[in-house]
Amino acid sequence: MRTFDLVVVANRLPVDRVVDPDGTEQWRTSPGGLVTAMESVMPGRDGAWVGWAGEAGEAPEPFVENDMYLQPVALSAEEVEQYYEGFSNETLWPIYHDVIVSATFHRFWWNAYRAVNQRFAEAAARVAAPGATVWVHDYQLQLVPAMLRELRPDVRIGWFNHIPFPPVELFAQLPWRQSLVEGLLGADFLGFQRTADAENFLRACRRLVGLPTKGDTVTHHPHGDDGEAHTVRASAIPISIDFNGLDELARTPEVKARAAEIRSSLGDPEILMLGVDRLDYTKGIRHRLKAYEELLRDGEVAPPETALLQVATPSRERVAAYRNLRTQVEGTVGRINGEHSPIGAQAVQYLHHSYPRSEMAALFLAADVMLVTPLRDGMNLVAKEYVSCRHDLGGALVLSEFTGAARELHQAFVCNPHDIEGLKQTIMRAVRAPEADRRRRMRALRKRVADHDVQRWAQRYLEALASAPERPERQGRHGKSA
Ligand code: ADP
Ligand code: F6P
Repeated sequence: MRTFDLVVVANRLPVDRVVDPDGTEQWRTSPGGLVTAMESVMPGRDGAWVGWAGEAGEAPEPFVENDMYLQPVALSAEEVEQYYEGFSNETLWPIYHDVIVSATFHRFWWNAYRAVNQRFAEAAARVAAPGATVWVHDYQLQLVPAMLRELRPDVRIGWFNHIPFPPVELFAQLPWRQSLVEGLLGADFLGFQRTADAENFLRACRRLVGLPTKGDTVTHHPHGDDGEAHTVRASAIPISIDFNGLDELARTPEVKARAAEIRSSLGDPEILMLGVDRLDYTKGIRHRLKAYEELLRDGEVAPPETALLQVATPSRERVAAYRNLRTQVEGTVGRINGEHSPIGAQAVQYLHHSYPRSEMAALFLAADVMLVTPLRDGMNLVAKEYVSCRHDLGGALVLSEFTGAARELHQAFVCNPHDIEGLKQTIMRAVRAPEADRRRRMRALRKRVADHDVQRWAQRYLEALASAPERPERQGRHGKSA
């Protein structure tokens, strides 16, 4: 068995195995921001990635792709239901996203979550070289840090949460809250998107588990009061995207030509609005459509001069809340088009597919107004991707204040998606903003993302992990102090 000095552990591998009806096997990029970010930072690091290949049944053999050693972990059909769809996405996901839909608690889901986390910890323990750095990701694997420390006390363990960490009042609802905190405290360093998330975690340690915290650290005794103390640091290191890669891609003649083609195939609208999201109730797609429908009804916008293109990536399709959302969104799109589209032009063009990166870049480059309206989102990489593609300083970003991205992208047109009247006004402000104002905003947004790209994020994270529980002395690409 090969071993590695850097091991990433995430629920999904960067690629999903898909078997077509004729039996041919394909590997496709997995959905979501975690994969987008980590795929940009892993090549060249000679690391391993432990994760699930996206379908139930036996795990494929390990293989190398894009410079990474991929170590698949098997999930049975029952585990997919109970650990992934159940505990991860019907218990934790709603609790960690403000209970936008209600959470479901089942003890047998928790048992499956524990068993699968143990399997991930064992797989990581097998591929980690002596003294390796193991970087665990996200809410699906919160027990892995402590499980791995039991198996491999020699390795350095970090965990990064891609989604929000909930306020203690919501986290407290979880019957397994203490075990989750103890699972995370197996790490040396816990990274969060926002300072508020790290503070929520530290508050949970204090109030729910009775542990002492000091600044951004918490100390506990994993082997009882007489055992050795272990101090863990919890702090914010907001994730980002590959600015240079996207900027370069969006400048290629192919992507520019495709952007023009997209506009012309939509009838060359004066204003093209765009939404790009996993089809998830956290993304505020219904609120966005409601605002747009009212703007059409009020005569503020009208096709063919204005069009909305909504890309909704298939996601968690067997979970009831996601199926309901799809029905609602598709019903609303049908109603809007039925009422407001003239022959030959659609008020809303709706696409329920995944696309290659170059097509995404072309969509971003084509859009005059990007609508990012989540009700709650750890970061939202789409907002940063849009900005990175706008080398022409064109376009305007409407951004929900409930995203991690809003903490950084201050020059966006910031909105509260719950306030439909306010959202409509913000959209119209973005539509009508003078060109000079839009260019000034876009320049500032691009500078922020260029200076805080995904490489810098990974470097800062790994430095924080290496020095935890102390703060790293130097941080950032240019060795500036934190
Ligand atoms: P989340 O992680 O919740 O899905 P993010 O906005 O942080 O949300 O990340 C989503 C990632 O998935 C981005 O990199 C985005 O470009 C990508 N993406 C979203 N929709 C599609 C799609 N239809 N096809 C290809 N990539 C997509
Ligand atoms: O970034 C949040 C996230 O939930 C990741 O953890 C996950 O990989 C991604 O979005 C997509 O969700 P899923 O893996 O459930 O398809």
